[in-house]
Amino acid sequence: MNFTPLWTAALNAFSNFIIVDEHCRIAYMNKPYTEILNVQLEDVIGKPIKSVIPTTKLPEVMASGKAHIGALMTLYDHKTGKDISFVCNRIPLIEDGEVIGGVAISTFNEVGEIYNLYSEVEKMQQQNELYQQTIEQLRKQTNPLDYIIGTSQAIQQIKSTIAIFANSGLSILLTGETGVGKEVFANALHQLSSRSTSNFVKINCAAIPKDLLESELFGYEGGAFTGAKKGGKIGKFELADGGTLLLDEIGEMPLPLQSKLLRVLQEKEVERIGGVTPIKVDVRLICNTNQNLTQLIQDGRFRADLYYRINTIELAIPPLRDRLDDIPDLCNFFVQKFNRENGSYTQGVEQEVLALMQQYIWPGNVRELEHVIERLCFLNPHSTIGIASCDFLLNKLSGDHTLSRPAAAFSSLQEQRSSAEIDLIRQTLRQTDGNKAKAARILGIDRTVLYRKLKKYHID
Ligand SMILES: Nc1ncnc2c1ncn2[C@@H]1O[C@H](COP(=O)(O)OP(=O)(O)OP(=O)(O)O)[C@@H](O)[C@H]1O
Ligand SMILES: [Mg+2]
Repeated sequence: MNFTPLWTAALNAFSNFIIVDEHCRIAYMNKPYTEILNVQLEDVIGKPIKSVIPTTKLPEVMASGKAHIGALMTLYDHKTGKDISFVCNRIPLIEDGEVIGGVAISTFNEVGEIYNLYSEVEKMQQQNELYQQTIEQLRKQTNPLDYIIGTSQAIQQIKSTIAIFANSGLSILLTGETGVGKEVFANALHQLSSRSTSNFVKINCAAIPKDLLESELFGYEGGAFTGAKKGGKIGKFELADGGTLLLDEIGEMPLPLQSKLLRVLQEKEVERIGGVTPIKVDVRLICNTNQNLTQLIQDGRFRADLYYRINTIELAIPPLRDRLDDIPDLCNFFVQKFNRENGSYTQGVEQEVLALMQQYIWPGNVRELEHVIERLCFLNPHSTIGIASCDFLLNKLSGDHTLSRPAAAFSSLQEQRSSAEIDLIRQTLRQTDGNKAKAARILGIDRTVLYRKLKKYHID
């Protein structure tokens, strides 16, 4: 092959440059390439490329008709006695729709470093895939409803409603006092739905300044307002596309934003602030509130039409005092949680303490119980939690509950419970002729608890 010196110099400027004919036989190889392979050009011309370079991918490229651009290849360099890596392009030569040959050319030389990074990235991608598979398997093994602790009738009822509606895509409103676990139930709803592999986006309407809430929810285009980020910002609605959006403390949403939210829900598309084109979104909405929305509607602070749009299904989570049966399971769960987190070995909560806990009104609900257990675990890192470390709980019990009673209806419930307790204690004492130890045994409570109750209710 006779090239002018200029052509030869140009072709030798690459570490490898090779041309093959339609049968994958070598038609040309530049000098640097022959040196790397330690061959003579005249010996390899006309030979099948695979017989000279066994690792070549050029035949595959020709068979598929699809080029490899930016591929990495490694060869043993006979000149230096080391492996050498290139970034190369492999291109099929096509004329009138027929592959008439192929060409491979290096685009970067000496890319050992890039190659290492590439292998690292590849390794991480493989690891990531493995993690994804493991997460998926774990997700399949664990029923998301198992993360909701409690077997009281109320909780069982809510769990079965969640199981029925999780996959429906209907909007759900979770109501209940602070700390009852609305977020725990919202999580289960998302995890149990077919949307669980997409985003679960949460936004707390009370925690974000009112004038920022709109841009957080709907996003904005670059330069939409002073201080806006140059490239704009994606909103939570877009982020939750295909998944679930949890609007926490929805009762705190300002009225003008409520109108915009209603429009978005009806039209299923959002418009970023300063944007002109609406963006289609497929979002399942869950709203949480510890406020009485009907009261807010009456006060003119919440739109009735939005309320009817978001409460297609309303799940009212009862306060802990109305499901005292859940206390032992919750205590056990939190003890184990703190043991895991702190490396401690608290054994559990004694019956007597559980009985005490079941007399308290828990204005802060499960969250308050969790903190109480945290404190008790800290005090009893290696033993069971007994009455001896419960002074602060007794103080809570003897405190003025009316101050922390969140619902008026509760006052009568608590009074009824106290009055029933007084009757039962009096009756048992009469039965035992005033023998307190015997009465405590019959009542299934510790003697100290009975003494405390006698004092509390002023029973002689
Ligand atoms: N049934 C439950 N099982 C396990 N943990 C629970 C349960 N209910 C509540 N918790 C725990 O109690 C704490 C409070 O729950 P959560 O934050 O969901 O309450 P909330 O109803 O959203 O309260 P708020 O209205 O104040 O936001 C959390 O740490 C949560 O994990
Ligand atoms: Mg919450």
